[in-house]
Amino acid sequence: MAMSPVAEKRLLATVLGQRQERPPVWIMRQAGRYLPEYRETRTKARNFLELCYTPELAVEVTLQPLRRFDLDAAILFSDILVIPDALGQSVRFETGEGPILEPLGPDDVARLDRDRAMSHLAPVLETVRRLRASLPADKTLIGFCGSPWTVATYMLGGRGSSDQWTARKFALQHPEAFDRLMDILVATSVDYLVAQLQAGADVVQLFESWALNLDDAAFARQVIAPNKRIVEGVRARVPNAPIIGFPRGAAGNLPRYAREVGINAMGIDYSTPLDFVRNALPADLPLQGNLDPLRLVVGGEAMESQVRAILEAFSNRPHIFNLGHGIVPETPIAHVEALIGMIKG
Ligand code: CP3
Repeated sequence: MAMSPVAEKRLLATVLGQRQERPPVWIMRQAGRYLPEYRETRTKARNFLELCYTPELAVEVTLQPLRRFDLDAAILFSDILVIPDALGQSVRFETGEGPILEPLGPDDVARLDRDRAMSHLAPVLETVRRLRASLPADKTLIGFCGSPWTVATYMLGGRGSSDQWTARKFALQHPEAFDRLMDILVATSVDYLVAQLQAGADVVQLFESWALNLDDAAFARQVIAPNKRIVEGVRARVPNAPIIGFPRGAAGNLPRYAREVGINAMGIDYSTPLDFVRNALPADLPLQGNLDPLRLVVGGEAMESQVRAILEAFSNRPHIFNLGHGIVPETPIAHVEALIGMIKG
């Protein structure tokens, strides 16, 4: 694996447990529509998935935010829904509507085709190799995938939903088909993350965007177990692989996720109280987060007061500064500059 020394990469070092004087920073969804150069490159692809599968364009949009801002990491430009696409499910992105999938029924799970998945994802791995070759030695390259439950909510529901009703019902009504779907997603995600690490990603993040609305048993089955299997599966092939887990909305389940999944660092969403972070999570666990993206939209004191509170709350542990969810298209670029200026001092 072509890796530069950890010492040069402050963000990777933080994931591995070293507290920094000033936290390294990246921004979830840092490549995206708030940047005019992203909107411009986006017109060169016929659709969003083509942008993800064209290494030349995907490398370009990955690097765009690093040209503007003093960020410590690049995140591979792709999407969590390339996995269902690679498994043969129909996935489309409609402008203004988000993703639309042909929803899977209980009998469709058996038709998902694992054999084609990795060859379908080959262009994404080519993007990782090109990024590795073009990034300066002090920048951390982050790979990622969606966690199985979050990906399954889209595969079963056909689109995003605020309560994940269809997928939660499916898990209870069709336990065998559901467990089979989770097995397929775990195995494909392990192959995909191992390939990203071998292609040059320094660290990988598991996006569990829908870790909310689950009772104890459902959280154990749908969130803890599959993420733990991915961590173990990846580390069996890439020993000590650095992994960030982001269980958005996990709330009172955060300590359990931190204890049981085996990740190196944990992302914290913006609705998690800073007091809870201080009191309920292991003192040496590296954490990432957690500014409300809305404060970055508004800027000024609304942003600065909370940035100060976050820096203070995380000051005694390894901390990666980030938003508590993805940056939104209406974010002014000047506010991002001001934010990075505050963090870097
Ligand atoms: O962070 C980055 O810059 C890397 C790229 C990245 C994208 N999506 C690009 C994208 C990453 C890491 C993701 C993750 C992702 N995708 C998640 C998990 C994180 C989260 O936000 O909860 C989820 C749930 C998805 C699924 C997805 N993709 C949705 C719901 C949407 C539509 C919402 C929207 O913002 O339009 C997408 C589309 C998408 N993925 C865009 C980008 C830049 C916008 C598409 C466009 O350019 O039209």
